[in-house]
Amino acid sequence: MRALEQQALTGPEGLRLVDVAVPVAGAGEVLVRVGAAGVNFADVMQSRGTYDGGPRAPYIAGFEAAGEVVALGEGVTTAAVGQHVIGTGAGAFAEYVVVPAVGLVPLPDGWNDEQTLGLTLNWATALISLRPLGQLKAGNTVLIHAAAGGVGQAAVRIAKHYGATVIATASAAKHDVVRRLGADHVIDYRTADLTDEVLRLAGGVDVVLESVGGTTFRQSIEVARRVTGKVVVIGAAAGEATVSNWELNFKHPVHVIGQHLTTTIQQAPDIFAAALEELHQLIAKGVYPPGEPTVYDLADGPKALAELEARATVGKLALKP
Ligand SMILES: NC(=O)c1ccc[n+]([C@@H]2O[C@H](COP(=O)([O-])OP(=O)(O)OC[C@H]3O[C@@H](n4cnc5c(N)ncnc54)[C@H](OP(=O)(O)O)[C@@H]3O)[C@@H](O)[C@H]2O)c1
Repeated sequence: MRALEQQALTGPEGLRLVDVAVPVAGAGEVLVRVGAAGVNFADVMQSRGTYDGGPRAPYIAGFEAAGEVVALGEGVTTAAVGQHVIGTGAGAFAEYVVVPAVGLVPLPDGWNDEQTLGLTLNWATALISLRPLGQLKAGNTVLIHAAAGGVGQAAVRIAKHYGATVIATASAAKHDVVRRLGADHVIDYRTADLTDEVLRLAGGVDVVLESVGGTTFRQSIEVARRVTGKVVVIGAAAGEATVSNWELNFKHPVHVIGQHLTTTIQQAPDIFAAALEELHQLIAKGVYPPGEPTVYDLADGPKALAELEARATVGKLALKP
């Protein structure tokens, strides 16, 4: 089969199209013929070796796939051959991928593989971060970073649906997209002073969806409301950042909450299951519409990852094997 192999941790240009054997599903696993693979910021981080616990080169890249189940490993009773599913498994940038049966989700009625990408990664991440962890309520104000991105777009729709005022950040060229999703204010964090602007607009925010890190992390802490404000940390696209116990005690008494989906699925499966149920309700209500990813050929995977890294993309990206 054709697959994209990360041959060195040099970033997207370290990816090469190769021919490898179709993998075999082991106990508790299924083999999926990939209809569409999701591209995530974590793929970029893995390609540079900056994703904590990420694979060592060489490895078949990608970890999100939607497609048809073509073989069941020993003991699998929760999936059927011929069924279309979405799941996460290492090596998704390929014609076939092996995925653990636990965590596989059938496609919503009437949706195809491509449209379903993001369900278990982007949407579940946004929902879990904003609701059970961020405790977002109607009337709250929320700051959503990278609001035009895969997770960000889902977060804007969810926050608006639950009655929040949304302040979003995005590169200037993406502002129209974010406004169309319902965001009340969009800030170009590269030209405006984010802290001043958010405090001017709202006097502080109840929840921050913090996916950027670097110098932005400090601004997120500064704008969270004292005592009750929550900063839910889900990413570090711009690098590592710290806040001290002294600052949390005296200067910025706010809640800092970490969220990593793989850990949530493993350590708090009830939270993940509840999120999936809620997402299906949001689908039924039309709050969560079928996805419209930008689709690249598998061979153009390096280009897709390079564009994602360069902040040149809007919304979800997909690779078609
Ligand atoms: N914790 C979890 O379980 C979990 C799960 C999924 C995703 N995530 C995290 O959520 C974030 C979004 O992921 P995604 O896959 O949906 O990607 P994405 O938002 O589609 O793409 C990343 C966006 O982040 C913005 N950005 C800001 N600073 C950046 C920088 N220094 N380098 C690159 N991009 C920067 C850019 O948007 P602008 O140009 O508009 O600034 C860029 O388009 C990532 O940090 C990812 O690691 C976490």
